[in-house]
Amino acid sequence: MTEAAIQQLLRTAGEARRWRDSLAPGVRVGFVPTMGYLHEGHISLIREARRRVPKGTGHVVLSIFVNPTQFGPNEDLDRYPRDELGDLEKAAQAGADIAFCPLDPDEMFSKASATWVEVPTLAAGLCGASRPGHFRGVCTVVTKLWGLVRPDVGVFGQKDFQQLAILRRLHADLFLGGEIVGMPIVREPDGVAMSSRNANLDPQSRLDARAIPRFMAEVRRRFFEQKLRARDELLAEAAARLAPGVIDYVQLVDAENLQPIERVERPALVAVAVQFPGARLIDNTVLTP
Ligand code: PAJ
Repeated sequence: MTEAAIQQLLRTAGEARRWRDSLAPGVRVGFVPTMGYLHEGHISLIREARRRVPKGTGHVVLSIFVNPTQFGPNEDLDRYPRDELGDLEKAAQAGADIAFCPLDPDEMFSKASATWVEVPTLAAGLCGASRPGHFRGVCTVVTKLWGLVRPDVGVFGQKDFQQLAILRRLHADLFLGGEIVGMPIVREPDGVAMSSRNANLDPQSRLDARAIPRFMAEVRRRFFEQKLRARDELLAEAAARLAPGVIDYVQLVDAENLQPIERVERPALVAVAVQFPGARLIDNTVLTP
């Protein structure tokens, strides 16, 4: 096995900017923003960035920043899992060569900073409804990171479907440059979507979490085999199926504008958020007629 290592670890916004400015024109940059505690979902994004920016043509930048502005006051910021050293090793192995891990959250969001980026229409429902300010924090940090790294391609996961839809809108509206790529959800062998937060589930809750992919499989069966199209038929008994998790939301929305729908006539999204002791988990599946 070849030993891969991160070539350069950038610790401040200034270092990131100077690194980016030092690149010759034509050197391409792939970018994978994360909050760390990397799992195979993150790794799939790094590999895709590397595939699109092969060695010798440019760099793949991984950022790790547990962004305080996207956590609500009673959320899990202080419990969010961290393992920077392990992350850097995994990221290098997957093909990243540059890491941007801001040391000081107060530099990314200084006392003087007063600019916020929002996409209110797309952020109104789903996770935006239960996590006020969450997407404002996400949009603002991604705008800052994108401005420092100026990637040719940024790679994001469909696990956070609403986040991806919002970031695509933001990216187009603000002419951020480069391209946004979305990648499929990577799951554990038992179907549970990979998430850094799974580490915060107690063993019983981790087992109980299998209710989520089972629910998704049942919805897909009703849609693709039974050809059901109405919301109530597709989601019937959802509450019982997702127990003992406590449902935050189970929704059928249009996959483009994320507005609730009653029937699937064009690509739709079934999205769920379920609270378990230790972690709130989200998952989704796209239904295309
Ligand atoms: P984080 O939760 O660390 O996720 C980083 C990226 O990995 C996101 O694009 C997310 O969609 C993707 N991802 C997470 N789990 C995945 C899975 N099971 N399969 C495929 N991709 C997966 O999302 C964030 O961080 C933050 O909001 C961020 C965009 C970095 C802004 O702070």
